[in-house]
Amino acid sequence: LGSIDIDVGKIGEGEQLKVLWRGAPVFVRHRTAAEIAEAEDVNIDILPDPATDDSRLVPGPDGNLKPQYLVMVGVCTHFGCVPVGEAGDYDGWYCPCHGSHYDTSGRIRKGPAPRNLVVPPYAYTSDTVIKVG
Ligand code: FES
Repeated sequence: LGSIDIDVGKIGEGEQLKVLWRGAPVFVRHRTAAEIAEAEDVNIDILPDPATDDSRLVPGPDGNLKPQYLVMVGVCTHFGCVPVGEAGDYDGWYCPCHGSHYDTSGRIRKGPAPRNLVVPPYAYTSDTVIKVG
């Protein structure tokens, strides 16, 4: 019960799947090219919790990153509310509890949350399936 398989190939571009993993929501977002560009085009030195977009991805079976799929635990790092997708000032996620804005890489950009949304342990088991946990 520690891990789950998710067929990310079924998620349409620009859509997000929410699944439960160990009692917590996990977001899998199939990002658009514009969302990926936005995530990559950031000076990480200005971020509260500096991280490149690439560092928040894992490689597929061919060894290359798959930037179209972003996988995160959907729990705000402030006090644990579930952020809303495609919302906020940075086109990523917005936590309505106290107003934290996350970008299209799930990095905290504005508001009281101290850390980026957490990337859970996961790996690709095929081109379109991931195992979380
Ligand atoms: Fe998300 Fe406070 S729990 S901003």
